[in-house]
Amino acid sequence: MNEPADTADTSRFIVTSNRGFAAYAQDELRLLAPGTKFDELIAAETYVMRIPLGREAAIRTIAEREPIFLRHMHPVDEAVSIDGTKEDIAVVTASIRKQFQNAPSRSIAVQIRKAEGCRGDYEPVELREAIAGTLSEQFGVLSVVKDAERIVSVFIAPGTAYIGISAPEQNLSDWPGGAVRFRKEEGQASRAKFKLLEAEYAFGLDFTRYSKALDIGAAPGGWTSLLLDRGAEVTAVDPAELHPELLRHPKLTHMKRNAGDVAFPSHTFDLLVCDMSWSPKQMVKLILPLLDALRYGGTAIITLKLMHGKPFQTVKDSVRAMQPTMELQKAKQLFHNRDELTVYLRKIH
Ligand SMILES: C[S@@+](CC[C@H](N)C(=O)[O-])C[C@H]1O[C@@H](n2cnc3c(N)ncnc32)[C@H](O)[C@@H]1O
Repeated sequence: MNEPADTADTSRFIVTSNRGFAAYAQDELRLLAPGTKFDELIAAETYVMRIPLGREAAIRTIAEREPIFLRHMHPVDEAVSIDGTKEDIAVVTASIRKQFQNAPSRSIAVQIRKAEGCRGDYEPVELREAIAGTLSEQFGVLSVVKDAERIVSVFIAPGTAYIGISAPEQNLSDWPGGAVRFRKEEGQASRAKFKLLEAEYAFGLDFTRYSKALDIGAAPGGWTSLLLDRGAEVTAVDPAELHPELLRHPKLTHMKRNAGDVAFPSHTFDLLVCDMSWSPKQMVKLILPLLDALRYGGTAIITLKLMHGKPFQTVKDSVRAMQPTMELQKAKQLFHNRDELTVYLRKIH
């Protein structure tokens, strides 16, 4: 039997956080809409959320005050019963065909996810191909991986497939489940580079627009190498060694020093990044004297390590310590963050 339909005042979404951090996202969502309930699909990561707001109001409310720990969401327009046999493919495809008539588009990305240990007689790829094939045949829709006009999401759980069609921005991320995948390049200095790449994407930044960057805690150099790739002149501060390939770069200055032992003229940099992996308190103490070297309007991207399970307090305290010089633009736990989150700030004083 299919689950009860949503009403004008309640709607369902599949919501995903980094593994282990879903409880924080749930706290944030309950604060936005008291009475919101969650049913587990993947422990501490993915849940069905029933929120006491209509679909569009829920999307708007969440977009206006985007929860730090909510990585991805998609609406559930229909939840259909499935039994793990190949019949599921026809059942799910029929539901999507029906929904698609109400919200046609020229291009779609079909994203299939499933609960852990949920086995069936078919692979997700078969289901994806069947959906894409049907929509192409019947509506002439182009199926793409990125930059689709709409995303068709299917989450397969034991006994139920949760199906929704949405615009990419309504999902917070256009990657399936918000799991952002970058291709690993040859000779890449560190996987940490992905964190800054993801921050650029998640915060809508364009690092080619910055000319002078200061990277605090730069070794082995993933962030520095990205900023050099983007054309910035980079001053990298770290007592540890940088990747040898970077050292030849004409736009790099490596100061092999502790962040507490360096100083720069006022307003030298338009971008400051810091990924020191220290206690936020210590990190902020080291950063504060360096903020004078950032131009007005300049950007800071900083990772905050989550130390004692009080992430909201950590963000509040760290940001407050940098006020009124800096203004928080956004705090987000990115897919590539582990026990940390990333803050994006702008210098306003
Ligand atoms: C997580 S790693 C940074 C990785 C870097 N973002 C990358 O992409 O390769 C942290 C770095 O912070 C540096 N660090 C820790 N304390 C520091 C301090 N007081 N001053 C400067 N660097 C420091 C460490 O030496 C270490 O290389």
